[in-house]
Amino acid sequence: MADKPKILVTGASGFIGRRLVARLLAEGYLPRCLSRRKVAASSGGVENVIADLLDPDSLRDALDGIETAYYLVHSLDAGEKDFAARDRAAAENFVAAAERAKLRRVIYLSGLGAHEELSDHLRSRHEVGEILRRGNFATTVLRAAVIIGAGGSSFEILRFLVRTQPVIPDLPGLRTRCQPIAVDNVIGYLAGCLNAEATAGATFDIGGPEILSYREMLEHLAQVAGHVNLYFPTPVFSAWLTSRLIGLLSPVKSEVALALLKGLNNEVVCRENRLRELIPESLIPYDRAVALALEEIQAGREARSSSTNFQSRP
Ligand SMILES: NC(=O)c1ccc[n+]([C@@H]2O[C@H](COP(=O)([O-])OP(=O)(O)OC[C@H]3O[C@@H](n4cnc5c(N)ncnc54)[C@H](OP(=O)(O)O)[C@@H]3O)[C@@H](O)[C@H]2O)c1
Repeated sequence: MADKPKILVTGASGFIGRRLVARLLAEGYLPRCLSRRKVAASSGGVENVIADLLDPDSLRDALDGIETAYYLVHSLDAGEKDFAARDRAAAENFVAAAERAKLRRVIYLSGLGAHEELSDHLRSRHEVGEILRRGNFATTVLRAAVIIGAGGSSFEILRFLVRTQPVIPDLPGLRTRCQPIAVDNVIGYLAGCLNAEATAGATFDIGGPEILSYREMLEHLAQVAGHVNLYFPTPVFSAWLTSRLIGLLSPVKSEVALALLKGLNNEVVCRENRLRELIPESLIPYDRAVALALEEIQAGREARSSSTNFQSRP
């Protein structure tokens, strides 16, 4: 156990980061958690580093002694005018620090979607991948669509809609195809990359076993959760107004909701499945993933995401 390497997890306080840290600990790794706030008690093999990727000075010693890092950071809560520039600067600062520390590998969780007409959010996620790939280390990029798990921003938006809206506007965007994936499978793939050397320097699409439209995802979620919604065709839809409502009535910040809602027209399905050969994961069906997430919420064990306000909304 003691000879397992120290692994840096940026975004360790987030929806994915918290779960990944727990998984790495369970596998005997020594996670170093980087975030702008303390993630967990520095005990039992966990080390905390308080640093801001937008402040290069704070990264000076953060990567010392690290060979492999996970990149799980985004700035969507900065709002639509600022997030892409912030995410670009954060990635560039990270690359400079990683090259100084002579990192060998970086594993980045990005978004799916083809290159044409992407939303600002997805375009920014892909740009971060390109910046990381230019670094003097091997970057693995895993590209996912909506991740199903308690506290995940996209999942919480879906849950908000079926829980609070008796009538849901039947937008053309609800017919867009998506390939959601259970958070446990995402964590399995992320952790699995450490032992699958063939993943170093490569990009992979990751998805669950079904391709569904957003409307089907909402309908299945409602069924599993015991809600009933009507769908009403509407020519008028304000992503801005809906995002304000989500910010007020759900754990997801309105800035994050707006960026995600604007991606509703982007098809997000896997174009290849090569990672399944390298890291065998038993893929969890959508309805089961939803049930697991709802059970976790019911039990009050939401993974608190930095882009959500769970603390103020118990
Ligand atoms: N959730 C999904 O459905 C989904 C789907 C596809 C891909 N992804 C990707 O998965 C990755 C992780 O997403 P997530 O859902 O876990 O997000 P999240 O819960 O919102 O967490 C974001 C993390 O970024 C950190 N962060 C933001 N700005 C930072 C800065 N300047 N310096 C240091 N840390 C900073 C936050 O830490 P502090 O605020 O504590 O500092 C937080 O830990 C992202 O790359 C995202 O694009 C997510």
